[in-house]
Amino acid sequence: MKHFLDIHKTDATELRGMIDSAHAMKAARNGRPKGSPDDDTPLKGRMVALIFEKPSTRTRVSFDVGVRQMGGETMVLSGKEMQLGHGETIADTARVLSRYVDLIMIRTFEEATLLEMAEHATVPVINGLTNRTHPCQIMADVMTYEEHRGPIGGKKVVWCGDGNNVCASFLHAAGQFGFDFTFTGPETLDPEDRFVQFAREKGSKVVIARDPFVAVEGADLVVTDTWVSMHDPESAKERRHNQLRPYQVNEQLMSRAKPDSLFMHCLPAHRNDEATSAVMDGPHSVIFDEAENRLHAQKAVMRWCLGL
Ligand code: CP
Ligand code: NVA
Repeated sequence: MKHFLDIHKTDATELRGMIDSAHAMKAARNGRPKGSPDDDTPLKGRMVALIFEKPSTRTRVSFDVGVRQMGGETMVLSGKEMQLGHGETIADTARVLSRYVDLIMIRTFEEATLLEMAEHATVPVINGLTNRTHPCQIMADVMTYEEHRGPIGGKKVVWCGDGNNVCASFLHAAGQFGFDFTFTGPETLDPEDRFVQFAREKGSKVVIARDPFVAVEGADLVVTDTWVSMHDPESAKERRHNQLRPYQVNEQLMSRAKPDSLFMHCLPAHRNDEATSAVMDGPHSVIFDEAENRLHAQKAVMRWCLGL
């Protein structure tokens, strides 16, 4: 079963193949209307379940549109409205859904929920974000970097702020795609050691730096994300804002990166918190290409899962 659960669990050659396929599918659409099918419709007759236990704009819309462009149908399910939200086990949900649909994408809280779904499903399962990782986002980010600047291998990526789920998938990608990764943020919000170790074991240079201005020096790509993720308690908000304020990505910080550096943010953003509008709308920013590329990258992921 070809589940897409995390970047470190997928063979590097296959990941590269998905990125190449995403570029090709994007090029093939060639400006045609968003709702029109692709020339090639490998998902014709297939049904995809999209389960959301947390809010979403990009993941929800890009998966839905992507399936339809490839000729398939989708069913968007809110965790709260399913029996899942009322005590039915993940395992039973996985077994039942596998009788109806060809593919399951789930956005959930605990990593264990995703793993249990994958263990008991008899169709492929895709991770649409957990508290721990967000692999589909980083496939789109790698695609976006390479679309603008060519191969990401050997480049310096700097993450500013919270060592969260998106940061974790970036560390997996550093190992698999062969780029270096610097994290800069307060010690209490460092990425988990298992993610850092994976990248290091694969040969990436991983640096943890407390001074953002030192960290960003010579960066090819600067990335940040919200200071308070969906799974973080509301009560942590004020403390996090105080801790993370020095790590805001602003024009002064970006001026330390390479002149041709890119800026990314997975969105949604809290403008003028983690990044200023001047940076988000400035010359280094590729945030909306990044959002668009969720569509193309996930189409490639779905084809890979289904062997199509
Ligand atoms: N970046 C991302 O996953 O966005 P959504 O939460 O809107 O899906
Ligand atoms: N770190 C964020 C990403 C949102 C796409 C969160 O988990 O809320």
